[in-house]
Amino acid sequence: MSRRKKPEQGELFELPPKKDGALAYLPEDAHDLGSLAKAIHACEGCSIHENATQPVFGDGAADSRMVLVGEQPGDKEDLAGKPFVGPAGRLLDKTLEAAGIDRGTVYITNVVKHFKWTPRGKRRLHSKPSPYEIRACQPWLEAELSAIKPKVLVLMGSTAAQAVLGSGFRVTKSRGEPHISPFSEHTFATLHPAALLRIQLDYAREAAEKEFIEDFKKIAAYL
Ligand code: URA
Repeated sequence: MSRRKKPEQGELFELPPKKDGALAYLPEDAHDLGSLAKAIHACEGCSIHENATQPVFGDGAADSRMVLVGEQPGDKEDLAGKPFVGPAGRLLDKTLEAAGIDRGTVYITNVVKHFKWTPRGKRRLHSKPSPYEIRACQPWLEAELSAIKPKVLVLMGSTAAQAVLGSGFRVTKSRGEPHISPFSEHTFATLHPAALLRIQLDYAREAAEKEFIEDFKKIAAYL
């Protein structure tokens, strides 16, 4: 299997050709979730895997009617090997429950499957994936969505929304409204739960959490 050369400085924003990146690591014959989850452990489609503990594949059943997509695993997810198990995941759980959506019936994943971070003392700080890395990883997300064929797809935050709906998409302008994508009957974008956690003022954060719940209540009506 050919290995992609690590991009040099300045090459970072040059996007990999569509046939490149993760595509070389997808199983040739079987594209069920089990085969994909196994195959991703060999993925070196971009350089993020070099500093990550493990890939974090999606979590949930193949017959889920709703798929939620975030940006990339965080520190806790990298260690656990599961998406949304840290602070953002706890807020997401609370939100789904308040919106009447059973988390156990939802498939949750990320656009980028390895944790990209920079050291700050003993901490590993989230580092935003580049357009190059997002494009390189996208075949995994597309394969997951093709295997599940969800009725409702929810893109949380601009990385997920722009990966599926195009780089000009603005979440703040079109959150909670139905959009068209090749992956589901109904596609929505909303904020990323980590963005709510970063709001310092309690009253502003609580108001943002209420709006986030309202987005999911509206979306749940399409299930
Ligand atoms: N943020 C994400 O986008 N995904 C996770 O899995 C955790 C935090």
